Amino acid sequence: MMASEDVPLHFQDAKSASMLWPVSYRRSRSNRIKTIGLSVIALFFFFLMLQSSSTRVEPDFWTKFPSRHPFPQRPEDAQVLLPPRTDINVTDTLPHDLDKPNPRLHVLVPGSRGSRGVCRTLTSAMILGYPPPTLIGYGHDSPGATEAERMVDRITRVRNYLRDSKTVHDRDFVLLVDGADTFFQLPPKVLVERFQAIVRENNRKLRDKYGFAEVEGQKPGDAPEMIQKYTQRVLFGASKICYPGLLDDPGCVSVPESSLPPDVYGWKTDVYPDGSLNRPRWLNPGAVIGQAADLRLIYDEVLRLVELRSNKSADYQALTQMYGRQEVIRELERRRTSNDFKELLYRMVGISDAANITGINIRLETGHRYEFGIGVDFESQLFFNQIMSRKDVEWVKFGNITKMSALQMEHGVPREHRLLLPQDIATLPNPFIQSRFAKESTQRPVWNATLDKLPNPRERTWHNISLMTNVHSATVPVLAHLNGDPKLRNTWWENMWFFPWGRALLRKYVRDSHGFDAAQSSLLGGQDWLHVRGGRGGIWTDDENWVTLSEVCNGQERDLFDDDLGPWAKENGDPDEPVYNQYGSLIAGKEEKVD
Ligand SMILES: *[C@@H]1O[C@H](CO)[C@@H](O)[C@H](O)[C@H]1NC(C)=O
Ligand SMILES: *[C@@H]1O[C@H](CO)[C@@H](O)[C@H](O)[C@H]1NC(C)=O
Ligand SMILES: *[C@@H]1O[C@H](CO)[C@@H](O)[C@H](O)[C@H]1NC(C)=O
Ligand SMILES: *[C@@H]1O[C@H](CO)[C@@H](O)[C@H](O)[C@H]1NC(C)=O
Ligand SMILES: *[C@@H]1O[C@H](CO)[C@@H](O)[C@H](O)[C@H]1NC(C)=O
Ligand SMILES: *[C@@H]1O[C@H](CO)[C@@H](O)[C@H](O)[C@H]1NC(C)=O
Repeated sequence: MMASEDVPLHFQDAKSASMLWPVSYRRSRSNRIKTIGLSVIALFFFFLMLQSSSTRVEPDFWTKFPSRHPFPQRPEDAQVLLPPRTDINVTDTLPHDLDKPNPRLHVLVPGSRGSRGVCRTLTSAMILGYPPPTLIGYGHDSPGATEAERMVDRITRVRNYLRDSKTVHDRDFVLLVDGADTFFQLPPKVLVERFQAIVRENNRKLRDKYGFAEVEGQKPGDAPEMIQKYTQRVLFGASKICYPGLLDDPGCVSVPESSLPPDVYGWKTDVYPDGSLNRPRWLNPGAVIGQAADLRLIYDEVLRLVELRSNKSADYQALTQMYGRQEVIRELERRRTSNDFKELLYRMVGISDAANITGINIRLETGHRYEFGIGVDFESQLFFNQIMSRKDVEWVKFGNITKMSALQMEHGVPREHRLLLPQDIATLPNPFIQSRFAKESTQRPVWNATLDKLPNPRERTWHNISLMTNVHSATVPVLAHLNGDPKLRNTWWENMWFFPWGRALLRKYVRDSHGFDAAQSSLLGGQDWLHVRGGRGGIWTDDENWVTLSEVCNGQERDLFDDDLGPWAKENGDPDEPVYNQYGSLIAGKEEKVD
C-alpha cells in the first residue's frame, strides 16, 4: 500500500486568491496481508497514480519564485587576495596611480558606543591585521528607544551602508560581526581563503544535487545557456539551537543536516535534551561573510520582515525563516525534477538527502524571491558560536604532541586522532616579527622598549601559542562569537593568544600600517591590499568619519590589556597624530608642520 503525505504549502498568487497546492510524495509501508483482492486494488491505484502523475502539471519552482541569482560571478572566483607581484622589484618606487582593481574586504561592526565588548572586537580585529573596521551607528545612541527599535535602526544602517557607501563595491567581501561579543583569532587571509574553499566545495555539491536550469542567452538571438540552479554565496555561523519559538518552521526543520559525523559528540549526539550535544546546524546571525551585493539583497529582505514585527530579535527570526524557505523551495524543485523510483529507493536504503518538508505549513508568494544563497559554517572553520558549546573548545599549543594526541580522546570524540596545526595557519608569517625599521622610525607610536616588548619570534611561533580549538570538529576558528554565558567573556579574552602582548601587538599594527614595509607590501600584492581606504589604529563610522581607537575605547585599557601602562596612544604623552590614506592625503587630525 502506498501512503501519501500531504504538505500543505500555500502559494499566494499575486493576482488570484490564495490556493492550496498539495505537494505529495510517497513513502513505502510494508504490506503484510497479501490477498489477491488487495493486490488488484493496489495495482488499480498504482496505475491511477501513474496516470495522474503523468498528467499532473507541477509548477516550475525555480522560476515561479525567482531563483536565478542577479549576480552571475561567484564569490569563490573573486580575487580578494592578490598573488605576490613578481614584475616589480622591492627597490622600485611606488607608482602614483596605485589602485586596487579587485574586490576588497570590509569589516562591519554595529555598535553605537565603545563598550567593553565593542572595544575587544575592534582591538582583536586590529591586532590580527584586518582593515580598519567600520562602526555602524557609532554616536547614534537613542536613549529612549526600545530594544526592538534599536534593532530596526541597526539593520537599517547596515543595509544603507551596503547600499550607499561609495567605498563598498558590489563584488567586495563584507564581514559583518556582532559588535558586542566577537573575538578575532586568525588573520583575514585565513578568513577569505577558508570562506572561498567552503563555498567552492558546497557549490560542487549543490550542482550535483540540484543540477542546471536553462536560461535565455544574454543577448536576443543567443543560444540558451545552462546555469547551475542553486549556489551558495554567503556563510553564516552555525548554532546548536534554532531560533526559539519556531520549532515547526522550515528554518528549524527543513535546513540541511550538519556535515559533521552523526556521532561526533558520542552516542547522544543530536538527542541529548539540553541541545549541548547537537551538531551545529541552525543559522546564527552573529557573524556572516559574503559579497556586498549578496548581503544587500539579504538585508533588504530582513528589513522588510522586521518592520512587520516588534521583537528585539526579529532579525534573527527573519534570517532563520529566510534560510528555511530557501531550503523548502529548493526541495520542491528537486522533487519536481527527480525520479520517483530513485527517491523511493534512496529513502528505503536510508541515503536520501531530501529535506524534511513534512507537515510544513507556510504561505509562499508567487513572484517573491526566497533564494539568497545562504549556507552555514557547520564545522566552525570561520565562526564559532559559544552558546551550548563552551566545553567543545580548548586553548592548546599544537607543538605539544603529548597534549594534541590525547585531546580528542579526552573529549570522547569517536575515531580520535592527533590534531595537527592547520596548514593555512602553519604557513602564516610569525606574528611577533617587528618591522625592520620599527626601532629607527619616527612614525608614531615611537619605539619604546617597554611598550613594544614582544617575545622572540624564534621561540614563539604559531606552533606554541595557545589557539582556541574546536576539539570535536578539529578546527581552529577564525573568530569566536561569545553568545553564551557572559561571565565567561573575561576569562576567554585572557585566553586568546595575543592577550599577553596586546598593547605591543596593537602598536606594531599601527606602526606597520604607514611604514615603508607596508607600502612595499601593498605594491607587491601583500595583505595591505585588502583595503585601500587608508588609516590604521582607528575606525571608520558609517557616516564616513574617522575616529581613533583611543577616542572610542578611552578608559577600557584595563579590560583590553590589563598591563598598567596607561591610556592607549598616550603612553608617552604623544599628541594625536594626523592620519593619511595611502595616497598621502590627510583624512583626520592636523597636518604636521615641517619647519
Ligand atoms: C629585478 O632585479 C633583478 C636584479 O636585481 C633584475 O634581474 C630583474 O630584471 C628586475 N626585475 C624587474 C621587473 O625590473
Ligand atoms: C520575541 O520572540 C521570541 C520568540 O518568538 C519570544 O520568545 C519572545 O517572547 C518575543 N519577545 C517579545 C518582546 O515579544
Ligand atoms: C520532519 O519534521 C517534522 C516536524 O515538522 C517531525 O515531526 C519529523 O519527525 C521530521 N522527520 C524527520 C525524518 O526528521
Ligand atoms: C604538554 O601538555 C601537557 C598536558 O597538558 C602538559 O602537562 C605539558 O607540560 C605540556 N608540555 C609542554 C612542553 O608545554
Ligand atoms: C616554541 O617552539 C620552538 C621550536 O619550534 C622552541 O624553540 C621554543 O623553545 C618553543 N617555545 C616555547 C615557549 O615553548
Ligand atoms: C617607555 O614607556 C614607559 C611606560 O610608559 C615609560 O615609563 C618610559 O619612560 C618610556 N621610555 C622611553 C625611553 O620613552
